[in-house]
Amino acid sequence: MEQRKGRRLILFPLPLQGHMNPMLELANILYFKGFSITIIHTNFKCLNPSSHPHITFHLISANLSESEAAEKDLLLLLSHLNKKCCEPFRKCLATLVSDVSKEPVVCLITDPVYDFTQSVAESFKIPRILLRTGSASFTAIISAFPVLQEKGYIPKQDSRLEELVTEFSPLRVKDLPMINSSDPERFLKLISNLTSETKASQGFIVNTFEDLEQHALATLRKEFHIPVFPIGPFHKRVPATTSASTLSSQDWSCISWLNTQAVKSVIYVSFGSIATLDEALFLEIAWGLANSKQPFLWVVRPGSVHGSNWLELLPHGYLESLDGGGHIIKWAPQKEVLAHQAVGVFWTHNGWNSTLESICEGIPMICMPCSADQMLNARYVSDVWEIGLQLDNGIERGEIVRAIKILMMEKKGEQMRNRLSKLKDKANLCLRQDISSYQSLKDLVNHILSLEI
Ligand code: UDX
Repeated sequence: MEQRKGRRLILFPLPLQGHMNPMLELANILYFKGFSITIIHTNFKCLNPSSHPHITFHLISANLSESEAAEKDLLLLLSHLNKKCCEPFRKCLATLVSDVSKEPVVCLITDPVYDFTQSVAESFKIPRILLRTGSASFTAIISAFPVLQEKGYIPKQDSRLEELVTEFSPLRVKDLPMINSSDPERFLKLISNLTSETKASQGFIVNTFEDLEQHALATLRKEFHIPVFPIGPFHKRVPATTSASTLSSQDWSCISWLNTQAVKSVIYVSFGSIATLDEALFLEIAWGLANSKQPFLWVVRPGSVHGSNWLELLPHGYLESLDGGGHIIKWAPQKEVLAHQAVGVFWTHNGWNSTLESICEGIPMICMPCSADQMLNARYVSDVWEIGLQLDNGIERGEIVRAIKILMMEKKGEQMRNRLSKLKDKANLCLRQDISSYQSLKDLVNHILSLEI
């Protein structure tokens, strides 16, 4: 813990799990660097202040109607949040900035998906830094969207999905970021806002490290002309207990179950906090896992399988037939699971947090990207870092068994583990004194102090 700096930072996370986790980790990192931290969160999905007594929390109302809060179209939900949170945020910030009983506010750190925070920050003359929760490559690629549109890669056409995007090899058209919505223009608008919000900021923080994304980071530094701070991996800097931001309660019974399994034998299956599955896919996954004869720990979020509440669609007697070889839960303590010696493979949707968490524990991945940046992350995993497999011939039980066998038993899997072991070492090394992420954090702290009004 560094000496207190007598300065306050205000953080404003987007209320989605994959965005809140890294923001809360960042809050802890900066707290340990000596800053006082205030987090503004919304009643749409709120954090639990009692788990973080060293942080001050301010709850604002997102004012979403019941139907808006239940919106399944992610882009529409984000649009509601942007419209409804602006005024409550402005009011809350006004109160915080004028509170002379606390340390002066020196900087606002926000998620660029909130498209109003730059103008609000400007109206209070507060410098604003962004946290980009995706990879550096994602930020680089979406900033090139105007060119990709000009060249006809976007909007994606079915006939061109397998085509190589030569400017971003080995990405194919199907790997370019995309979120389906009732109005396709909504996604392009979001992408364009993300880039303009970033350019308008006074620097941005990325949860990555130099050795993992050197090329993308060099591109960002060249294109954006503002400071870039790759200070990750965040979760390796702070104890999990101080930074846990989980919105669902974690089922720790899985750790006792993992304790009974052989080293590197278990397939951990989780598709993050947003992805949903249809019945056919859910059943192929269930049978692929059972037929592999490997033990598995599977996170099935309630409501994530269309047409069911939880496991009702599993065939009668499925769980009993596994004879203890399969454990299904609603939400895992994922970082602890990936760090457990019994876990040998991670079957993931490749959200950036999950991808990075897997790399940091040296666990090879079966990639099943669904949306947003996940296709891009998966391509990096399979074709750039070569630490995982994509199910290129469709998600079918036979293919699943084959992929598990390759990763668990074949030479190709062993080679991936060797590459991962080197990446894992680099992920740990970059946090040590004077190495890249350590240095970048030092630069970030100095940058914040230099922003003072
Ligand atoms: C979303 C997007 O989908 C993702 O592509 C983007 O990069 C970030 O925002 P999400 O889908 O939830 O996030 O995936 P991911 O980025 O992997 O974040 C999930 C987080 O929840 C991880 O930190 C993971 O450790 C945690 N988690 C997941 C749990 O704690 N328990 C679980 O059972 C599953």
